[in-house]
Amino acid sequence: MGNIPYSEKVMDHFQHPRNVGEIPDANGVGTVGNPVCGDVMKMYLKIANDIIVDVKFKTFGCGAALATSSMVTEMVKGKSIGDALKVTNKAVAEALGGLPPVKMHCSVLAEQALRSALKDYFKRQGKPVPFDDKEHTHEDEKCL
Ligand code: FES
Repeated sequence: MGNIPYSEKVMDHFQHPRNVGEIPDANGVGTVGNPVCGDVMKMYLKIANDIIVDVKFKTFGCGAALATSSMVTEMVKGKSIGDALKVTNKAVAEALGGLPPVKMHCSVLAEQALRSALKDYFKRQGKPVPFDDKEHTHEDEKCL
C-alpha cells in the first residue's frame, strides 16, 4: 500500500476483508465504479422484512476501497434498511480509524455500492426508492 500512512484497522480489513464473495439469491445487487481510477465494487444484499440479513461484496480496486467495502458490510449486516441508509462514507472512514485525505474518495465508492444495491432492492420490489439516488461525480477527485 505504498508509503501512505494507514491505520491498523485499515490494514486489518485490507489484509483480512470480511464478507467477500457473492450471494446467489441476493435481492439487491449494485455495482459502482470510479471512472478516474477504474476501481469497481459490487455489493450483494439479502433483505428480509426490511433487515439486511446478509451482505457480501467484491472489489477490484485499491487497498482503501477494499478496506472500506469490508467495513461497510460489517456496519450494515443485521441492520434495518433505514439504519443502513444512515451509514455515510465518513462514518465508514471513522470506523476504520480514519483514512488519509487522498483516499477519502475510496470510501465514497463503498457508500455508493451500498446505496446502489439498496436501490436495486427497491426497484425489484416495485417500490419507489426512498432516498436521493443521484450519482456522485468524481470529476474533481484524483485517485492515487
Ligand atoms: S477507489 Fe480508486 S484509488 Fe481507491
